[in-house]
Amino acid sequence: MSTRSDALVIFGVTGDLVSKKLFPALYQLARRGRLGVPVVGVARSAWDDEQLETAARKAIVEATGGDVDEDAWREVAGALSMVTGDYTDPVTYQQIAQRLETAERPLFYLAIPPTVFGDAIAGLGAAGLAARGRVVVEKPFGRDPQSSRELDAVLRSTFDPERIFRMDHYLGKEAVENLLVLRFANALFEPLWNRDHIASVQITLAEEFGTQGRAGFYDQAGAIRDVVQNHALQIAALLAMEPPVADGNDAFRQAQVAVLHQMRAMTTDSTVRGQYAGYLDEQGVAPDSTTETFVSTRLTIDSPRWEGVPFYLRAGKSLPGTATEVVVELKQPPRGLIPSHLEVPDANLLRFRLGHDSGVAIAVQAKTPGPRTESQPIDLLVDFATALGPQQEAYERLLDDAMDGRPERFVHEALIEEQWRIVEPVLDLPDQPTSYERGTWGPSVDDTDWHSVHLQNKRR
Ligand code: BG6
Repeated sequence: MSTRSDALVIFGVTGDLVSKKLFPALYQLARRGRLGVPVVGVARSAWDDEQLETAARKAIVEATGGDVDEDAWREVAGALSMVTGDYTDPVTYQQIAQRLETAERPLFYLAIPPTVFGDAIAGLGAAGLAARGRVVVEKPFGRDPQSSRELDAVLRSTFDPERIFRMDHYLGKEAVENLLVLRFANALFEPLWNRDHIASVQITLAEEFGTQGRAGFYDQAGAIRDVVQNHALQIAALLAMEPPVADGNDAFRQAQVAVLHQMRAMTTDSTVRGQYAGYLDEQGVAPDSTTETFVSTRLTIDSPRWEGVPFYLRAGKSLPGTATEVVVELKQPPRGLIPSHLEVPDANLLRFRLGHDSGVAIAVQAKTPGPRTESQPIDLLVDFATALGPQQEAYERLLDDAMDGRPERFVHEALIEEQWRIVEPVLDLPDQPTSYERGTWGPSVDDTDWHSVHLQNKRR
């Protein structure tokens, strides 16, 4: 018997996230013959079905660059309907229930601010819709350890644990998943994957753009809550975890939780916070906001594998480029053939690109042409789109998974707890972050050599 969800209810359907990510994901699912269910949009804004359809069309045209498969679009358009109402009003849920009359396993997707999660969950529970449904909640999971636990308690009071899907969309990215395959399915990497051979691990989530009209949300969050607590620490866990001790999701999760448990909490001494110039003038930003738009930190993992290996993590907005990448810096090689009057060759760098240009580059030393035995770095480079073909978008994969009730690519609450523990000491610091000019790599801070190991120095 199929357990696939037979209806989808999207709370917050008028929002930015739905336009950017969920409408395109619905369309892609329709193209692959994986939609096939009614989609009920719920929002406080008084939209009718036509407005919903217009918004979906616009989003899909934008996502596809106008090259819309009209059959797939007709399926999406035919599936959509709108319910308008307040999340605290029982009538809203009665209306949803009417639309779901024939659905036995609806999936509720909460694309709404955490402040109204509780209302929506309570409303679903009171209307008797939770018992047969699944629920997807997206990060941020609360705003600190305490509120995260409270959110969890609310979810668990209404939904069975196996019906709760906590989503960090980075786990749906093919390139992020590929980190594990590259590490564990190749004899090339794993033998080097330890303190004997690795000098540092550098994780970068850089964005060229600023808050993009989300300043109201962003100012309440900041870079640490927005992308470090979740995306960046997820990547760190996948890079640093031990091989799972058994097959299956439980052992995999345990390995992830174990490595984050060994990671020390962030400290103010080894964290630099920045705020780009002009941020305070943006609409939605408090005039005296101390929210960081840039963070750079040095993490330590107390494990035999990683003792003494710094994990540098940096993330920010209004930086010189958009790049999500991991650089694993190996230790410097011995001089070898290189004559003693020349410098020791540069260390090898393994660069895993996780963004739209996903791929791997390995910087190796090669002989410089000419009479002398000198070396220079060159890249062995592979672009995943060229080598492997097109990849599915994270939201499409995760929505498909949640509809099937597959938990593997969702976050376990034990991991979320560790993630909050790690960032907690640097949340809501009272001091003003150091200002930096837009289009630069964050504040320049003297006496922090680790912070100056910047992307631009190593980028090729
Ligand atoms: C989101 C953050 O979770 O991730 C955004 O809220 C950020 O601020 C985005 O821009 C980055 O995601 P991606 O998939 O574009 O790397």
